[in-house]
Amino acid sequence: MLSKTDNELMCRVEKDQPMGVALRQFWMPACLLDEIPDPGDGPVRVRLAGERLVAWRNAEGRVSLMAEACPHRGASLMLARDEGDGLRCVYHGWKIQHGGQVCEMPGEPKESRMCGRVKNTSYPCVESGGLLWAYLGSGEPPALPHFPWMDLPAAHYIVRKTIYNVNFVQSLEGSIDSAHSDFLHSAETSASGDYDQDKVHSDGSRSRPSTDTSPEIDVRETDFGFIYGAIRKAVADPENLCYVRATAFALPFYSMIPPVYMQASVPLDSENTAMYLVWYNSERPLSADEIKGHETFLGLRMGEDLLSDYRRPGRDTNRWLQDREGMKQGKTYTGLYGTTMQDIAVQESMGPIQDRTIEHLGMTDKAIVHMRRLLLNFARDVRDGKELRIAALDADYRNVQSAAAIIPRGEDWWKKLYGDQAASVSRKAG
Ligand code: FES
Ligand SMILES: [Fe+2]
Repeated sequence: MLSKTDNELMCRVEKDQPMGVALRQFWMPACLLDEIPDPGDGPVRVRLAGERLVAWRNAEGRVSLMAEACPHRGASLMLARDEGDGLRCVYHGWKIQHGGQVCEMPGEPKESRMCGRVKNTSYPCVESGGLLWAYLGSGEPPALPHFPWMDLPAAHYIVRKTIYNVNFVQSLEGSIDSAHSDFLHSAETSASGDYDQDKVHSDGSRSRPSTDTSPEIDVRETDFGFIYGAIRKAVADPENLCYVRATAFALPFYSMIPPVYMQASVPLDSENTAMYLVWYNSERPLSADEIKGHETFLGLRMGEDLLSDYRRPGRDTNRWLQDREGMKQGKTYTGLYGTTMQDIAVQESMGPIQDRTIEHLGMTDKAIVHMRRLLLNFARDVRDGKELRIAALDADYRNVQSAAAIIPRGEDWWKKLYGDQAASVSRKAG
């Protein structure tokens, strides 16, 4: 449970809010690289932490990220002419170059010296791992987070996106909540000794070698955030074997879920989140079959599950297209199809910002409590005028790894699954 004040403090992301200031110390994904039109084809609209921006690729191939509102009188640069070396506002013809400098004001008198003095708000941005990364903070940006898939050839990873109409913490809480998978995602996650663990099959189903619906949650601090183990009795020998699923939480809003799903809950504003999902194979390119299997499991097929704006047909006003008939007939537990749709439905059903003053947290919510504490500490420091010290900005995000295994009961999952890495991550965190 949180007080109303803390809930607001943790959730509000606009730049005049403490959490907004804290988030702006981190690089954040702004959009998929695939969303940015080719040179000559104009900009794409970007929403990030309450800011209205556009991303645009100039004739030289360089991407700019700048305010959507023209610095003259605020017309949208989404309407601008793409002239290759600048965007020209269609309202009065001001031209804005890469980096935001206004270079022409054709309506102003020839002798006017105003032109060189006006700059559109513009932010540093970098292309990496299929995403455009933005730094909205003040001062020198830190190093870009170096996630494991970023070093891989493009054929080894997939990046997808979908929009949740909820605050980013709400969606993040879903990502680090192992316990819900046994219920909300029960149709997709079968428990079977026949399946290899954590395998996503070509029909979109996924195997799990446990039927235990009450995982023990064990959190281990790291310098990037924490890794928690969700420990369940294994089907094979429930008395002597445990099935451990280890999920990493990396500040400020990333999770790495077994087998290798990264989820980034990026705030568009305080009530809307872009969920980026990345999956990858370090050893080899992903096959078309695998990609289809993952997309089906996650419910991220463009044109089938997703509309062209990354939203979905299922929403609050149509009860997320829940199949009540199928539920009555025992065909489906939730009446919702696709794991992402299931997540979206329950999260949006809480309202855009969950009222955490009336919740009752249980033992399986431990990781969520931990994550909230980390985020709230940042926001409190900003609010109280303290210096913000964020160890995660120096952390090696290549260590943001998930893992899963069946281990003998009583063995330390942390050492067993993370070995030397566990030792080094813990040492730095300590
Ligand atoms: S509003 Fe853009 S040039 Fe006037
Ligand atoms: Fe989920």
